[in-house]
Amino acid sequence: MDQLLLLNGPNLGILGRREPEIYGTSTLADIEKAVSEEIAVRGWEVISVQRDCEGELVRAVHENAETVGAIVNPGALMIAGWSLRDALASYARPWIEVHLSNVWAREAFRHESVIAPLAHGVIVGLGAFGYRLAARALLHLTD
Ligand code: DQA
Repeated sequence: MDQLLLLNGPNLGILGRREPEIYGTSTLADIEKAVSEEIAVRGWEVISVQRDCEGELVRAVHENAETVGAIVNPGALMIAGWSLRDALASYARPWIEVHLSNVWAREAFRHESVIAPLAHGVIVGLGAFGYRLAARALLHLTD
């Protein structure tokens, strides 16, 4: 069965209770379920990896090189996650960067992403729904 990589970076394992006024009340399990629902139409399944350490995210990209595409929320690694950026540069399939919050409406240090220039697309500010949209985008990109 084809698999889609859902990769979430630091502090995203506590979604639901992490600053819900910014990130919403959906948990990572809710997001995994939502993405699974979207991609079931193609018979794909989700491989969900959340890690707080950059090196473990790098390894997850390497180990899941055969997936059909990826949804990546790098969390704060968007700002200076150079090794994650390099791992994603070697990932051959389309991938979408997602941020729950509108990073451009927030502090200036969140306004740059070192990985966004490599993404096929970027979705910000739509909360957990952004992951559904990213899943649909990947279905479209791999049609
Ligand atoms: C985030 C935005 C980042 O700036 C922040 O460091 C996160 C979450 C988001 O999904 O809105 O951890 O990626």
